[in-house]
Amino acid sequence: MNPITNHVGTSAPAKIILFGEHFVVYNKPAILASIDKRVHVDVSVRNDNKIVIKSNMGFGGSFDEKKRKQLQTKSFKSLVQPILLAVTDTMEEFNASVGLDLNIRSEFPYGVGLGSSAACSVAIIAAVGTLFGKLNRKKICNISLNAEKLVHRNPSGADSAICSYGGLILFNKNNNMKSINSDIDLELIVINSGIKRTTGKLVSNVKQKFERDADMFMDLANTSENITIQALKAIKDKDYDELGALMTLNHSLLYKLGVSKNILDKLVEIALHNGALGAKITGGGGGGCIIVLTNKHFKNKIMKEMKGYETFVSKVERDGVIIK
Ligand code: PMV
Repeated sequence: MNPITNHVGTSAPAKIILFGEHFVVYNKPAILASIDKRVHVDVSVRNDNKIVIKSNMGFGGSFDEKKRKQLQTKSFKSLVQPILLAVTDTMEEFNASVGLDLNIRSEFPYGVGLGSSAACSVAIIAAVGTLFGKLNRKKICNISLNAEKLVHRNPSGADSAICSYGGLILFNKNNNMKSINSDIDLELIVINSGIKRTTGKLVSNVKQKFERDADMFMDLANTSENITIQALKAIKDKDYDELGALMTLNHSLLYKLGVSKNILDKLVEIALHNGALGAKITGGGGGGCIIVLTNKHFKNKIMKEMKGYETFVSKVERDGVIIK
């Protein structure tokens, strides 16, 4: 198939996991939100067969067919690989094969649990798909799972879902996802510990824990499920105090699971000590970011205490992937 247009621009949001990370891989529910930081993608058709990637995320290059085939046989090392996979999977969907210039610009850091790999693949699939026709959100989300498998080995699919649909969602690997209808106004602070880590490795470590002691693991997983169900009610009731307390409880569960780190526990403690309603790891842990639920009164105080760490205030973003 030939392109119907030569240029498309898209964007997809960063995400936070409010409740249920890791256990979501084991069919337990999770609550996720998209936040107001985005990955922007511009794609243009080239006159040759190369795929040329430029990004502000420390990767890029020019890839002819030979190079692309070579990369396919290698294990995951760079975001270039899932990006090329997302591009070729999308073109296959339309029975197309053209050269492309891809420009990727992210407003948030990579490898810190904010869903950059899913946001990149979702924005790219929407952009490349729109060159040839139309893809709905469900299709975009499904195509991105292949690229996510390369990065995360055994992803739950939650990151792809939130980047595609946006807003606040209740995600379950089996029953898929539901939008949470609530006009709750979450004042969230994201704090980056600065420690990069790979989600795939963390997910593998958790799997080993499960295999070593399934009973203990399932106790934690069931507690996570209960916390998530209570959190859903707190969101609907706009009970900020309860929501904060549940976030902190969720953090202690992740600590027991072994995915926290001293620095993350310390940042959570600083936040709580300075008036936060709740705080926890977001995403895989092992480094990356924590999220803090606060109110107007304590926001500045908490941010001041986090000196030396990248810190930003976030709101829940309603929009998922956007075609500009
Ligand atoms: O990529 P991260 O760090 O946002 O974590 C993904 C969330 C996990 O639950 C740990 C894995 C998954 O696939 O859901």
